[in-house]
Amino acid sequence: MDAVGAAFAAWPREGFLPRRERRRASYDGPLPIGHEQTNSQPRTVSAMLRLLDVRPGQRVLDVGSGSGWTTALLAHLVGRSGLVDGVELEPSLVEFGAANLAATGQPWAGIRAATPGVLGLPDRAPYDRILVSAEPRRLPEELVDQLGDGGRMVIPVAGVMLLVMRKDGETTVTEHGYYRFVPLR
Ligand SMILES: C[S@@+](CC[C@H](N)C(=O)[O-])C[C@H]1O[C@@H](n2cnc3c(N)ncnc32)[C@H](O)[C@@H]1O
Repeated sequence: MDAVGAAFAAWPREGFLPRRERRRASYDGPLPIGHEQTNSQPRTVSAMLRLLDVRPGQRVLDVGSGSGWTTALLAHLVGRSGLVDGVELEPSLVEFGAANLAATGQPWAGIRAATPGVLGLPDRAPYDRILVSAEPRRLPEELVDQLGDGGRMVIPVAGVMLLVMRKDGETTVTEHGYYRFVPLR
């Protein structure tokens, strides 16, 4: 089993769903978590995490932490020498995600409320990895700027999954298939 598979095994989706949705945890599709938002499709999360290529000890930003599931999976991938900052715009999901994450006992990861009009956490950048689970229409430069040298970001933009890599001041963008996400607001 690879690192992503081990993270999925350690933190099953069920613990990140509202009680009424838990019996559907094995369904390979998005599930509602309230406020018209979703816990993402497991196959999509797994593809995104493999593209992100997270290593132990890294600093990771999780934009759109929602249920807290991706934050918990990322925390497992970086391990206790790493750090994960989840950021979420919907206040009640900040609470829901933070409670679900706390139950995993990984205090090197946390969830913060997004400041409306500010993307990501520019004051805590740079990050080695950025995962974005909501879709903008254009690649946001503000998030590219939060990537450190050698950093990678995985983000769905206008229906296409992008891998953004930053090295020596150069930004490279590659495309990795078609996906649908809730909008990045
Ligand atoms: C597909 S959902 C949640 C996926 C989440 N990673 C999970 O594991 O449950 C995407 C989330 O992005 C949030 N969101 C949208 N725009 C945002 C922004 N600008 N900053 C932070 N979160 C945002 C939504 O409120 C929603 O909870």
